[in-house]
Amino acid sequence: MNELGAIKAPADKSITHRALILAGLNRHPVLLHNALISEDTRSTARVLRQLGVRISPMRQGSPARIVGRDLRAPSGTLKCGNSGTTARLLLGALAGFQFEARLNGDASLRLRPMRRVTRPLQDMGAQIKEEREDGLPLSIRGGTLQSIRYKCPVASAQVKSAILLAGLTARVPVTVVEPARSRDHTERLFRFLGLDVRHPNPTEVEFVAPRVDWQGAASFELTVPGDPSSSAFLLAAAALMGKRELTVQRVCVNPTRTGYLDVLRRMGAEVVLENESECGGEPVADVVIRPAELTGTEVLAGEIPGLIDEVPVLAVLAARATGETVFRSVGELKVKESNRLQSITLNLRSLGVQADASGDDLHICGTDQPLSGRIETGGDHRIAMAFAVLGKAPRVQLKLSETLSPGVSYPNFHDDLRAVGVHV
Ligand code: S3P
Repeated sequence: MNELGAIKAPADKSITHRALILAGLNRHPVLLHNALISEDTRSTARVLRQLGVRISPMRQGSPARIVGRDLRAPSGTLKCGNSGTTARLLLGALAGFQFEARLNGDASLRLRPMRRVTRPLQDMGAQIKEEREDGLPLSIRGGTLQSIRYKCPVASAQVKSAILLAGLTARVPVTVVEPARSRDHTERLFRFLGLDVRHPNPTEVEFVAPRVDWQGAASFELTVPGDPSSSAFLLAAAALMGKRELTVQRVCVNPTRTGYLDVLRRMGAEVVLENESECGGEPVADVVIRPAELTGTEVLAGEIPGLIDEVPVLAVLAARATGETVFRSVGELKVKESNRLQSITLNLRSLGVQADASGDDLHICGTDQPLSGRIETGGDHRIAMAFAVLGKAPRVQLKLSETLSPGVSYPNFHDDLRAVGVHV
């Protein structure tokens, strides 16, 4: 943080996972600059190493060097930790290889649905052995797959990406149709690597894989832009606490990720993009927020896929806004790192804020009363960070049940939040 109130955004988690996996499949060396080094991205790197990919130690400030290959059978279980993206995207990549691999995760990941990914992969011809219903641990044996046109019942970038990666490693054309457009980082990276990805319309993606063995692009370098979801916590903190403006620098402003900026604007915060440029096929900008009185808003079902990870932090802003905020159709929150719908409502209610989940809609009535209490994070990084932000607001005193979970996606979170607090 400098004296003008500018702070560099932490690196993007979604793009780091994808860049590591695609570099792991690329036969020529790749240099990855500004990769996110967090528990989740370490899980992806660890699992790729088990599959024979060479990845230099991930160290802050130096680029990761990755030398990919045809993945080879791992000697043990692939431990995906807390990371749904690792498990689901890897399942897709593994579907094109003939060996068996067993995937497992921590207690939270074992509760998360996997059939949304394994079903289309099975339809393509991959063999899946479940040890429990619809979850990890499970084993996959891929190989020769057939092409698919998959109508996905949920808007999910993880499902879409798994199918695209299966198309790449099995060398078959795939099409995914979504009910609403999810983040498109995989498609952008494919294009960056010269692969043939098309969007006949915004919710459909077609990928025609090269028929011959894909050797990957020539050696390439890629710089990971800043994470909009992690930046949202800093911007929200400035909106809640602030009298002074805050700039978060080099944030990915891909339109499939910036729905939360529209909601912040509707709630009354002034948000401006400056220094717009491009980084690895992604638009980036400095995001400036000028705080103002916040008012409640309605977040429509169609907006949710574009801000699904930001609902916890928008919910704590709603708790301090004037009037009611409604988030429509946020049922997907129930199957994130924890049941976030329940966790948001129970924690807000325990502080005395009116919050209800009726059906899959989340209703929050803002209050300016003093708030205090203990927050049960359930070990969920985004719940912990959202309530840590609320805890910085005037007349709010919170104690979190744990403060380590942000290490999953944003290891420097507590220091950055402190620095924002000192500035604004
Ligand atoms: C992610 C996609 C989203 C998001 C998750 C990361 C990704 O999940 O919630 O944190 O990197 O593809 P879904 O694709 O399941 O909606």
